[in-house]
Amino acid sequence: MAYDANSLESHWMPFSANRDFKKNPRMVVKSDGMYMWDYKGGQIIDGSSALFCTPAGHGRREIAEAVYKQMLENDYTPHFQLGHPGSFDLAERVCRLLPDDFNHVFFTNSGSESIETAIKVILAYQRARGEAQRNRLISRERAYHGVNMGGVSLAGMVRNRETFGLTLPNISLIRHTWQEDQRFSKGQPKTGAELAMDLERIAENLGGSTLAAVFIEPVAGSTGTLVPPVGYLEKVREICDKHGLILVFDEVITGFGRMGTPFATQKFNVKPDIITMAKALTNGAIPMGGVAVTDEIYDTITNSAPDNAIEFFHGYTYSAHPAACAAGIATQKIYQDEGLFENAAALEDYFLDAMWTLQDHPLVADIRGIGMMAGIEVHSDGAPGRRGGNMQKAMFWNGLHIKWTGDNAIVAPAFVAERHHIDEIVDKFRKTLDQALEEK
Ligand SMILES: Cc1ncc(COP(=O)(O)O)c(C=O)c1O
Repeated sequence: MAYDANSLESHWMPFSANRDFKKNPRMVVKSDGMYMWDYKGGQIIDGSSALFCTPAGHGRREIAEAVYKQMLENDYTPHFQLGHPGSFDLAERVCRLLPDDFNHVFFTNSGSESIETAIKVILAYQRARGEAQRNRLISRERAYHGVNMGGVSLAGMVRNRETFGLTLPNISLIRHTWQEDQRFSKGQPKTGAELAMDLERIAENLGGSTLAAVFIEPVAGSTGTLVPPVGYLEKVREICDKHGLILVFDEVITGFGRMGTPFATQKFNVKPDIITMAKALTNGAIPMGGVAVTDEIYDTITNSAPDNAIEFFHGYTYSAHPAACAAGIATQKIYQDEGLFENAAALEDYFLDAMWTLQDHPLVADIRGIGMMAGIEVHSDGAPGRRGGNMQKAMFWNGLHIKWTGDNAIVAPAFVAERHHIDEIVDKFRKTLDQALEEK
């Protein structure tokens, strides 16, 4: 199949080397199950669930049909003072996957909007409980919390913020959890829990009563899968309780089974107060995100408003769009009916062992991983990110899609994968490493 556009100039592509891409476009025209096809007919195995979005595999008819049916029945209802049944149904299904006291979900259209929404929920909650002076947010180095201004301010990825300069005030970063002695450790590293004490130091230096919340990706995804050390998240929770901070788990990647449990909160057995999500909520088919909060947060904000007044002055035109809700409901049914989170748990050992076979390759600097997610870091060629960028392109033409950030590949296959798919991903990964070594 060909693509019809005469020129690729009009679309300014996100997070892409536009000039380079347009010289030799990696144009995908079809996807199904574990595979995608380029416009020349090349078959590409999807090693990263696209962008961690498609655990049920590509081209799920149940989702497409649910969306089509919804569009014919009721294409759009604005959610400001109106409702449609799908959003309530989906919110309930999501809450059933979460710890007991998470009974409320605010819908957004992306992970980035989920982060902005969470920031507002936090500030509104602190004000509603009479602690408006708690207006400082904490995040971590090497964190990724999306690209809107709040998320960029929280993020610890320098390339995403240095161009823009202006960010939100009152944000402190604590250190990330990767340390040299963790290299090639599978699962949770044994060292590094004490890094949580950075949070305690900030409380000591700035005063615990000024702190509103801390944002944590339970496994830092976009910077290459940084797995929390044993005891780290527990320590963070303890410090949050001591100083009255809200703990946010940004589960945009780890939510919906990536850890072999519904959310990472169950995998690590640590309970936050807010959980942000997106991506796999709809199996990537329609943009959608959400922010789940505990009863305590919802009730405090809601009950602080006068009777019959709007309680939370926030929302998007497309919050809980009927098409997105239909996609979300169909997706949640697939996860449940096919036991896909259990599949992910059952595949974890095979998947991680397969990834670790790449450890012997001279270009591989580190491997990290847990659940159905692994980070493979290659040695820099001197210009950070150049080798990773080149390998991402080479992999595509070798029939493998992997999401790279700099020199880190993030492997995260769909949960419908079978062992032979994992083997194919590893073979093509090694082949591309070999080629890169030859070119060195
Ligand atoms: C942890 C985390 N938070 C937020 C986001 C932003 O999501 P989106 O790209 O849908 O805006 C991402 C995206 O990868 C993410 O990994």
